[in-house]
Amino acid sequence: MNPVEKKSYWSERYLKNQVGWDCGEITPPIKEYIDQLTDKSISILIPGCGSGHEAEYLWRAGFTNTHLLDFAPEALALFSERVRDFPKEQLRCGDFFEHQGKYDLVLEQTLFCAINPNDRKKYAKKNGGFN
Ligand SMILES: C[S@@+](CC[C@H](N)C(=O)[O-])C[C@H]1O[C@@H](n2cnc3c(N)ncnc32)[C@H](O)[C@@H]1O
Repeated sequence: MNPVEKKSYWSERYLKNQVGWDCGEITPPIKEYIDQLTDKSISILIPGCGSGHEAEYLWRAGFTNTHLLDFAPEALALFSERVRDFPKEQLRCGDFFEHQGKYDLVLEQTLFCAINPNDRKKYAKKNGGFN
């Protein structure tokens, strides 16, 4: 198994604070994309959310139907320690490839490049339909 397929690999990165990919805030292209959305009731999934800076931005901007998904509980803990008023039932700890759900929008940053390259077709198919 490629190490990136193991959640223990990612958990360890969070536990050791080896998170060089984390920008510490929402990135400008995602912010710009969110800023042009008008319907704040849409359901949004952020898979491989990590510490979820875009989720925090969405929440503070009034998007109430945002769901975070990551298989490393340590990542979700970082988010919920920072955004304490975010609904806990919208934090989902699990594998993207096994996740079931239906969303209006899937918003992600650096999950595609974090998975095993052999799974990229499976990833694209999954994003085309969660059911
Ligand atoms: C490179 S990090 C990016 C985190 C965040 N999106 C960011 O930009 O800061 C990749 C994240 O995807 C998660 N991840 C990797 N494979 C996953 C899978 N199959 N299901 C759920 N989460 C996964 C890891 O735990 C990690 O938090």
